[in-house]
Amino acid sequence: MREKATPVLHIEDERFRVTEWRFEPGAETGWHVHDHDYVIVPLTDGTLHLEEPGGGTREAPLALHVPYSRRTGVEHNVVNGGKDPLAFLEVEVVDDAQARVRLAVLERFAAAWNTRDLDALMECMAEECAFHASGGTEPEGARHVGREAVRRAYAAIFATFPEAAWIDAEHSVHGDVGLSRWRFRGRDQAHRRHEVDGCDILVFSGNLIALKDSYRKARAV
Ligand code: NI
Repeated sequence: MREKATPVLHIEDERFRVTEWRFEPGAETGWHVHDHDYVIVPLTDGTLHLEEPGGGTREAPLALHVPYSRRTGVEHNVVNGGKDPLAFLEVEVVDDAQARVRLAVLERFAAAWNTRDLDALMECMAEECAFHASGGTEPEGARHVGREAVRRAYAAIFATFPEAAWIDAEHSVHGDVGLSRWRFRGRDQAHRRHEVDGCDILVFSGNLIALKDSYRKARAV
């Protein structure tokens, strides 16, 4: 049985968690999986003895004030492999978890457009929501405010385009704002073909979409 390393929590807010880990010689963190990206800042020199999945072990030098970064998913047990106490700061970015959840919402939302599933679309929208269309008489495009109005506007898009696909979609999340880029390919009720690139700027409320703000290229005919 090894002694346990001592964690001292310095900062914990909606964006960061900063923990100082202090190890006596031979002390260990215990096995853990990192569920956030993180940076380690050594507060001492030292030698880490790392136990890794599959039974492997290795030694890694720790150099005072020389930081390194790792990504989500690292799994190990960290042991002080040296003869002196060692310490480091662990700086975790904790809001990437919310970004991943929001990204999944954007992927479900895009899939629902392609399956023409109004209920699934509205499940991605926040209780108070709005849709600003890419066309309309106002500077924002046509504004549809409130769940009923948004649902009607989405249904009208499906009615206008009996064939519609949003392809090659790429999604990203930046704080409270998401970006979805896509190519729209469809046929309207008069059987005219449409193929045009566009994007949505999506503002989140919690993990759901409060505003879908749409933009499309204006193609010369
Ligand atoms: Ni670790």
